[in-house]
This record gives sequence, C-alpha cells and structure tokens, in this order.
Amino acid sequence: MDAIECIKTRISIRKFKPDRVPEDILIKVIDTAKWSPSYKNSQPWEAIILSGRKKEELSIYLVSLLENGEKPSPDIEEPRSWPEENERRISALLRKRSEITGRDLNDPDVRKKAKIANFNFYGAPHGIFLFQDSSLTPWSIFDIGIFAQSLMLAAHALGLGTVPQAFLTDYAKQVKEFLGIPESKRLVIGISIGYPDMASPVNSYRTERVPTSEIVKMME
Ligand SMILES: Cc1cc2nc3c(=O)[nH]c(=O)nc-3n(C[C@H](O)[C@H](O)[C@H](O)COP(=O)(O)O)c2cc1C
Repeated sequence: MDAIECIKTRISIRKFKPDRVPEDILIKVIDTAKWSPSYKNSQPWEAIILSGRKKEELSIYLVSLLENGEKPSPDIEEPRSWPEENERRISALLRKRSEITGRDLNDPDVRKKAKIANFNFYGAPHGIFLFQDSSLTPWSIFDIGIFAQSLMLAAHALGLGTVPQAFLTDYAKQVKEFLGIPESKRLVIGISIGYPDMASPVNSYRTERVPTSEIVKMME
C-alpha cells in the first residue's frame, strides 16, 4: 500500500482479535515511528508496550478507579470548550455514533460503559503508552503526536489496527506509578494495538471529514 492509501484507509479500531502480535512486529512499528521529524531532532518520545497479565491488571485497576469515583487527572488537560466549528464536527460524530450503536452517548451509563471499554483496550492484546519529560514545551507534544501518527500508519501498513486513547491517560499518576514511569514524565496518550476484528460492526464506520475547501486557502 502506498503512503496516501495508508493515510486514507487508517481508521480507529475498537474491537480486536485476542491474538498477540509477535514482538518483532511491535518493535518494527516503533522502529518505523522513530523516523518521524521532531523539533531540532530532539526525539521527545518514550514508549511502553504493555501485554499479557500486566495489561489485564492495569485494566482492572483503571476500572476500579472509575467505580470508586476517582476524579480523572490527566497530565494534558482535557478541553473544556471548543470553537464553534470544532464543536459542530464533534456533535456530528456523536450523532453518527449514536445512530450506529443505538445508544444515547449523553446517557451517563452508556458513557461509563464506553470508558470501561477504553480501559479494557477494546480487547486488544497490547497497549502502547507514550510519554515524555514534563518540562518539554507544546512543541514536543506536537512531535510526539507526529510520532503517534507514524506509529499508527506503520501498524496499519503491517495489517494491524490501532486506536489512540486520551481516556487511557485519565488516571495519569496511577498509570505512571503502575508502569514505573517517573512522576516527572508527562503521559501523553495510550494506543491499543492488535489485529483488527473487521467482522465487528464497530469497525465498519468510517468517520467523515469536512470538505478540503473548508480548511485550506490557496494564496499567492
Ligand atoms: C488525541 C486523541 C485522543 C483520542 N482519544 C480517544 C479515546 O479516548 N477513545 C477512543 O475511543 N477514541 C479516541 N480517539 C480517536 C478519535 O475518536 C478518532 O481518531 C476520530 O473520531 C477520527 O476517527 P478515525 O481515527 O477512525 O479516523 C482519540 C484520537 C486522538 C487523536
């Protein structure tokens, strides 16, 4: 598959087959992503690939924090409000998801179940946590975002599915402690990775994009 096809056919996968991905393939994904550009080639990214029993234990821990009413405290603040055009796109996504799943995403019970599915890595056999030093500026968050996209594209090219999950950073302090990541690091994102279960309806939905003319102006 060429780069354009790879970018255009990647989708977020929310149901995975349980089969583990061989370690050399997982390493290949990171090995590819590390060729991403970064500010002054600072390469401000570190990763932990979590699998097996420890991944399951983390899922149980995260669900227990949620059940106990622990307040989310991510290292990167959740957006409190959105500019109007972004809000419109978010509403369109939520409307479409409600239509497909038949569930009202404003219902607190449905939202809780969605969070639990996130904490269970949507059934993926591996979760990748990306982090960097907390003293780094937004440029480095920009860089690790590029790294994350490269990682997801490399995975897609290798027949794997991924989904980036801010929810996996809800309990950043606890996740870092659990994974032995120093407190001085910023937990940026969790990414579930595995073989996609394409027979599942949750993976059949392709999100939309606004017309290109809405986001670009030609100027000379
Ligand atoms: C920074 C970031 C955080 C996200 N957090 C979540 C999340 O917590 N749970 C989830 O299911 N999807 C999450 N997503 C996936 C988005 O919902 C998804 O990328 C978007 O709807 C576009 O769909 P696509 O990835 O299929 O093209 C996140 C995406 C990004 C880039």
